[in-house]
Amino acid sequence: MKETLELIEEEIRSTIETEPDLIANFANVSALLYHALNRVKGNCVNWCGFYRVIDKDTLILGPFQGHTACIRIPFGFGVCGTAAQRQETISVPDVSQWQQHIACDSNSKSELVIPVFDSQTQLIAVLDIDANVLNAFSESDVETLEKAMASFQRPTPPSPKQKTVTHPSVHTSESK
Ligand code: SME
Repeated sequence: MKETLELIEEEIRSTIETEPDLIANFANVSALLYHALNRVKGNCVNWCGFYRVIDKDTLILGPFQGHTACIRIPFGFGVCGTAAQRQETISVPDVSQWQQHIACDSNSKSELVIPVFDSQTQLIAVLDIDANVLNAFSESDVETLEKAMASFQRPTPPSPKQKTVTHPSVHTSESK
């Protein structure tokens, strides 16, 4: 299990390393994680994506994979807002036991929220993963996914000078 998630971590790093646009990178990483985690964990992940920091103390939805979700979460509210305020990972094995949980999808039973920092160690987002089973996330999952999110702490690469069509997994490009 750990070995497979470590491969995902490498894939995330290579997917984002040459692209400076954060929204594009969050979109590809949420798609990559959603499908990879479901392959590894027997289709228990029902939501996976990012809430981005805006106005210093508010999280805003997206990009993500899954059903529609609440759009704005103030710091200190829900699992996401609490993780953002504390700037630390929160793993909730049973969301019904967590008073602060905001229920966007009644199928969610456990949840993992990991803060994402930039190269200046500023909080830029949180990664939120929901599962439809209890205790979906092990300590080693948390450790590996935290390492994967540390990929966003790289210095921002320069914008591509030419318009190119690139696909993250086949690494081909062509000029428009
Ligand atoms: N459950 C989250 C809200 C976001 S949804 O799960 C997508 C929370 O308590 O912050």
